[in-house]
Amino acid sequence: SGLSALPLHGCRTKKAVSNKHSNTESTGTAHHFAYLLNTSDYRILRMDEDHDRMYVGSKDHILSLDLHDINKDPHIIHWPVSERRRMECLVSGKDANDECANFIRLIEPWNRTQLYVCGTGAYNPVCTFVNRGRKPQEEIFHLEPGKVESGKGKCSYDPKLNSVSALINGELYAGVYVDFMGTDSAIFRTLGTKTAMRTDQYNSRWLNDPTFIHVQLIPDSAERNDDKLYFFFREKSSEMGQSPVTQSRIGRICLNDDGGHCCLVNKWSTFLKARLICSVPGADGMETHFDELRDVYIQPTQDTKNPVIYGVFSVSGLVSVFKGSAVCVYSMADIRMVFNGPFAHKEGPNYQWVAYTGKIPYPRPGTCPGGTFTPNMKSTKDYADEVINFMRNHPAMYNAVYPVHKRPLVVRTNVDYEFTTITVDQVTAADGNYEVLFLGTDKGTVQKVIVLPSDDLQTEELVLEEVEVFKVPTPITTMKISSKRQQLYVSSGVGLTQLALHRCDVYGEACADCCLARDPYCAWDGKSCSRYSASQKRRSRRQDVKYGNPIRQCRGFNSNGKTSNPVSFLANMVQYGVEGSSTFLECQARSPHAVIKWHLQRDNSDRRKEVSCHIQGLLLRSLQPSDSGMYQCTATEKNFKHTLVKLQLVVLSSRAVNNLLVEEKKTCSLCIGTFGAKYYCYY
Ligand SMILES: *[C@@H]1O[C@H](CO)[C@@H](O)[C@H](O)[C@H]1NC(C)=O
Repeated sequence: SGLSALPLHGCRTKKAVSNKHSNTESTGTAHHFAYLLNTSDYRILRMDEDHDRMYVGSKDHILSLDLHDINKDPHIIHWPVSERRRMECLVSGKDANDECANFIRLIEPWNRTQLYVCGTGAYNPVCTFVNRGRKPQEEIFHLEPGKVESGKGKCSYDPKLNSVSALINGELYAGVYVDFMGTDSAIFRTLGTKTAMRTDQYNSRWLNDPTFIHVQLIPDSAERNDDKLYFFFREKSSEMGQSPVTQSRIGRICLNDDGGHCCLVNKWSTFLKARLICSVPGADGMETHFDELRDVYIQPTQDTKNPVIYGVFSVSGLVSVFKGSAVCVYSMADIRMVFNGPFAHKEGPNYQWVAYTGKIPYPRPGTCPGGTFTPNMKSTKDYADEVINFMRNHPAMYNAVYPVHKRPLVVRTNVDYEFTTITVDQVTAADGNYEVLFLGTDKGTVQKVIVLPSDDLQTEELVLEEVEVFKVPTPITTMKISSKRQQLYVSSGVGLTQLALHRCDVYGEACADCCLARDPYCAWDGKSCSRYSASQKRRSRRQDVKYGNPIRQCRGFNSNGKTSNPVSFLANMVQYGVEGSSTFLECQARSPHAVIKWHLQRDNSDRRKEVSCHIQGLLLRSLQPSDSGMYQCTATEKNFKHTLVKLQLVVLSSRAVNNLLVEEKKTCSLCIGTFGAKYYCYY
């Protein structure tokens, strides 16, 4: 028989099923930024929801885009390096395209009219001011003339070395590489009126070849003097030959740190770091560690001291054969407990890391001056020498931070992609509040995922949809969400895209399909699958994210003749294939969680036989006359079964084909698709 499996998709389990939509199919919901710019390396660096703008950096360009429609009147500043600088960069042996240009990596709001912007400046970082006007209507967006200054300590030289930054009260805090060679990494403070500060130079106990991922101010108490800045990064393990090679870290400093008096002058005297763990036990009892932090999303809560921290991690190491990634969630309570716990200490004959058990000086190292516990100490310069000395040698905590429930929220192993980015939206549905995860991959797709609690502390993960954001499989570099606009913005090396957070119409035109999709954004309103809003009248809305039970939810709707697909229409569908060639029978489930089955009733037979089950459809290779018959595709979910496709396959001898083409035009009212030997015909 010509039956064979479609190579891409096997019969998948519920957890791995996903609805793959190409952006090009869903017209009206996605906007590519396709302005004719000769640029690359897009990064969304700042959202300004008050002004409905988004600021984007790319190679030699600074963009200000409209959040409603990123293609509508973009403001663009061309900020290349001088020809002389470009030549100097080339002479030093750097690459013309990937290095000797101005890669914009920092855009911070400076005051009501100005932005502070920095770029790599062809291996010579530069910063300047951009005037964006007071209001967007003014349409102002230009460089302030004569304001270019050095970007050293604000932006890395090498565009491959990621830098992070936060401008707080006129001070710029940045995690960067400070030198041309890319060996001197530091957390810097510059720009403002406070003392310029940095981490201890070339001290691998503090930072060891770090890759900076994120920075966020998180208050510790109502007392502003306790405010701490948290840095998320990954770095090389401090021990030679130690496994893993890479470790993920959360580090922190006090905003009001002024360095030491005796030693650590102009160096942080409150810098501490701890390891972030994200791992799962495997079948063989060995833990699979996701050691490489790739992205962090911080979800604010009512309590500003306790945001929820989401991290995306991948498996580290040079073994590219095994791809794996995971999402872990951390609580501030767990993080603070680790920073309040024992310090890591090295001594003894084996020279191993142990928990420090000796006397800890006062105030406890890492405490901010003038805070809740140190009201009488105005500055870190007032701290005793022993506190400062202790800090210099004990920057790491002994205990690691474990994720909530001690396991990842989402895990992907044995797949051909990795997650690279994350952003989260809080959604109110009829049956509760949900966190919807948007996960960008290294293949140019975004997965929309929810995780539901199920029995015995287990969780059920649902991939609501997977969208191919970029036409070429390219890693997603940044992602930002606007809950206000209900939009997701995605960047990569090749471009920018905007998509709606929900596309309820893709789930079909029936109550059951809408319900089975279990998308918290969407509900059946009696007529169609549309955006659920808590303020609307509840009675008329049908939604069941937790259980997705259409039999309970859609009683009365489906029996009203409103079936999931117009089967009566589809029953008249005929598909022609030519003997010896291949053909593809399509069956696209509206719900990503459905189990698809194909049945074939051969011509001259009264038996229906199950042939195979696939989400995308059936591929029939080398067609034989015996493959002719009635093919029926059904979707089953939660004991709810419906027919999606019913079609008559007619296998033609190659001789008949030429005649058919003529025939078709006469008898078909609608004829679609003449790809290869495939003809769809609707009467
Ligand atoms: C904003 O900052 C720039 C640069 O320091 C300065 O020239 C300008 O006067 C400031 N504008 C306002 C409105 O404060």
